[in-house]
Amino acid sequence: MTFSARTGWELSENALTAKLRRRRAQGAAVADLTVSNPTACGFFYDPETLLWPLAAPAALEYEPEPFGLERARAAVSQYYRDHNAELPIDRICLTTSTSEAYSYLFRLLCDPGDEVLIARPSYPLFEFIARLDSIVLREYPLQYDPGASVASAHAWTIDFEALHAAINERTRAIVVVHPNNPTGNYASDREREQLETLCAERGLALIVDEVFLDYPLRPNTPPVSFASGDGPALCFMLSGLSKVCALPQMKLSWIAARGPDILLREALARLEVVADTFLSVNAPTQAALPRWLGGRGQIQYQIHDRVQRNLAALDARLRGTHAGRLALEGGWTAVLRVPREVEGQPFAEAALDRGVLVQPGEFYGLPDGRAVVSLLSPPGVWELGLKLLPID
Ligand SMILES: Cc1ncc(COP(=O)(O)O)c(C=O)c1O
Repeated sequence: MTFSARTGWELSENALTAKLRRRRAQGAAVADLTVSNPTACGFFYDPETLLWPLAAPAALEYEPEPFGLERARAAVSQYYRDHNAELPIDRICLTTSTSEAYSYLFRLLCDPGDEVLIARPSYPLFEFIARLDSIVLREYPLQYDPGASVASAHAWTIDFEALHAAINERTRAIVVVHPNNPTGNYASDREREQLETLCAERGLALIVDEVFLDYPLRPNTPPVSFASGDGPALCFMLSGLSKVCALPQMKLSWIAARGPDILLREALARLEVVADTFLSVNAPTQAALPRWLGGRGQIQYQIHDRVQRNLAALDARLRGTHAGRLALEGGWTAVLRVPREVEGQPFAEAALDRGVLVQPGEFYGLPDGRAVVSLLSPPGVWELGLKLLPID
């Protein structure tokens, strides 16, 4: 009996996970500063408003629409209208998750062995999806301005020289996360233009993950969705309920597409067959989507408030210590500059010995001496965890 090479994962525990498991087994407390599941962070979710729409009679009807039900897609179209973008519903494809949306696009664009470019640092999920879809990921670096202050805009920038150099005859797409996870930088207007021109010239698709789009640190400067542009590239915007409405358990996301007419039509026709093969989105969540998206302000307000407060407490704690924070424009995470080692141990392991859990930066492809924390952490846990960090 043999299994596929693509599932030959390295499944053994790393030192940090093993330490965490042992600690929890002993019943020792851990102030977990990595919780990014919004349903576990003490936010108020109104059961009536959120669950009632699932009981709509439409939930009992099955309409096998490859891209999803029209009224659900109309709600997504309205979401983009709220972001100054006109996207008709025939350019919107519903999926069960953003991860599934990536997989659909990889299958649309790539044959086995073809390549997709992703930023470093970025979210580790891509490695798994790429491997399952038999494609190769190639990284392009984001550069951090060493002189940036925590309040700097555009402290992170795309290294376009390296991006150009990473393109070869097997490259099919560039992925941009806007704002990026975990670095929290939005692509600037200039970067958007450059990316679109590059993709159009080299015949590549641009995949833009906008799951954190609605979470800028400065709420008065609404971020620009790539959907609102009219650049020359074939562009796919990804987003979904897991972040926009902080409802990851509802499993509903989407792909929105725009680009030059002929190319767009061909892409959508092919994507429709991919979606028709799985018909993966269920009826109750589609029936509820207009209500959920329409009411997103309630949870987004709470998250903005939490992020602002946690960031202020973090900055106060870091002052005068051996640690610092990198500049951040949006999203739910912060990157800390920390000592590489504390008493001969890697930072995250030493922190865990003191009862606080942070993610090592290497998990995201950050250099040594970085740690990542979730700004969604509940206030009590946050205060305690910050106090316990070994940075004094
Ligand atoms: C940048 C980014 N994209 C996609 C996802 C996955 O989203 P979903 O739960 O919709 O699959 C995450 C999850 O944290 C993420 O951080």
